[in-house]
Amino acid sequence: MNILVIGAGYVGLTMAVCFSELGHSVICIDKQKNKINTLLKGKLTTFEKNLDKLLIKNLKSKRLKFDISMKNVANADVVMISVGTPFDDSLNRYDQNAIYCVAKNITKFINKYTIIVIKSTVEVGTCDRVEQIIKEANPKADFDVVSIPEFLREGSAVYDFFNPDRIIMGTESQHAKDVIKKLYKPLKKKKFVFTSRCSSELIKCASNSFLATKIHFINEMADFCEKVGGNVYDVAHGMGLDKRIGVEFLKTGPGYGGGCLPKDTKALASLGKRVGANFNLIEAVICGNENRIKSFATKTLSFVENIKNAKIAFLGLAFKSGTDDCRFSPAIDIVLHLINKGTKVCVYDPAATKNARSVLKTKVSYAKNEYEAAKDADIMVFATEWKQFRSLDWAKLSKIVNSKIIFDMRNIVDRQEALKYGFECYKTGC
Ligand SMILES: NC(=O)c1ccc[n+]([C@@H]2O[C@H](COP(=O)([O-])OP(=O)(O)OC[C@H]3O[C@@H](n4cnc5c(N)ncnc54)[C@H](O)[C@@H]3O)[C@@H](O)[C@H]2O)c1
Repeated sequence: MNILVIGAGYVGLTMAVCFSELGHSVICIDKQKNKINTLLKGKLTTFEKNLDKLLIKNLKSKRLKFDISMKNVANADVVMISVGTPFDDSLNRYDQNAIYCVAKNITKFINKYTIIVIKSTVEVGTCDRVEQIIKEANPKADFDVVSIPEFLREGSAVYDFFNPDRIIMGTESQHAKDVIKKLYKPLKKKKFVFTSRCSSELIKCASNSFLATKIHFINEMADFCEKVGGNVYDVAHGMGLDKRIGVEFLKTGPGYGGGCLPKDTKALASLGKRVGANFNLIEAVICGNENRIKSFATKTLSFVENIKNAKIAFLGLAFKSGTDDCRFSPAIDIVLHLINKGTKVCVYDPAATKNARSVLKTKVSYAKNEYEAAKDADIMVFATEWKQFRSLDWAKLSKIVNSKIIFDMRNIVDRQEALKYGFECYKTGC
């Protein structure tokens, strides 16, 4: 099939590469020329495990192409829209201008039956609005608008594409269902869930809000464990083995972040308010998560309050491991709090430094590795759960730090090993 993907971000690029790997002929377009030029050279524009090899392979086979022109709509059987929908704080809802702009721009190129798939996370009712925009601009256009929300996780996006828990398909059109089923046919394991477009749009927001709630629950449980005793890791493990609960999203930390959970919770809560169906639970989660980020900054400072001109080695900037994404990263927010208090901070992240630099600019110093960051540091803070942070050379670190204090926000440091070399290791919820 001929597929056009619009928006070559974390979602669009992964989809384009993976659909071409399934054997489809894919063109991926983006309004950013630089991005397209980089991708045409076979270089990734985001950090994502296993995507680079597939990108090069499918570019070579010519099943995958990159471009900037909307004219490519004319040849597409399926157009997948995966442009960004950031939260607009002034409107208290998603900024969906990019979606509507694409809808207007593709209209004149629709010259045969075409399926328009909304992959971006959107407010309920968006597919209806997109359909209306296209109909008004081109009453003769033969098309269906379908909602297929995306559930991939940055860091395991390729795996998630090929092993989806479910593929939600929001459409009433049998023709669209048949074409989309054909599109996913080469996927070995798949489970379709057919719904209305509205329900499909809501499933995405509801899922992310539920996941945020799960994270916040275990974070509050971690605080509780610190007060009453007990180890949140053991509590989460014991809880998660219950199939009704599940082990995922029960890891404590400095709060949830990224390009999805913060905005999707806010969008659901604010829409709830607007329609008179308050999501009190989600509102509490949003507020609790914001407070948690601030309290982790305060806690960090409390460990070094008696040290004059303390230097902080801050390890991990991405909102989670496996990605270079710093959007709404708790780590970045915490660093900003620390800088505002006049603290000297040296940061290191294996993948996200470039993105972090655009926010932190020259307010921090940047290290090339953990050891350079730790040199003369008074505290080592672990804010992202990168695997490589689990196996540091504590003997080496003990010789280069100024004070042997660790604040392990993600519970990834081997405390016994660090203790052997005289470090005090503060963990979260244990
Ligand atoms: N990142 C994730 O893990 C994830 C997971 C599931 C769903 N989503 C949702 O998918 C959507 C995309 O997210 P993302 O993280 O890939 O965003 P992103 O910001 O990484 O990428 C969006 C891309 O769209 C391009 N774009 C914007 N307007 C355009 C236009 N008019 N024409 C062509 N290109 C245009 C941008 O240049 C950018 O490259 C969002 O709605 C997001 O909520 C994201």
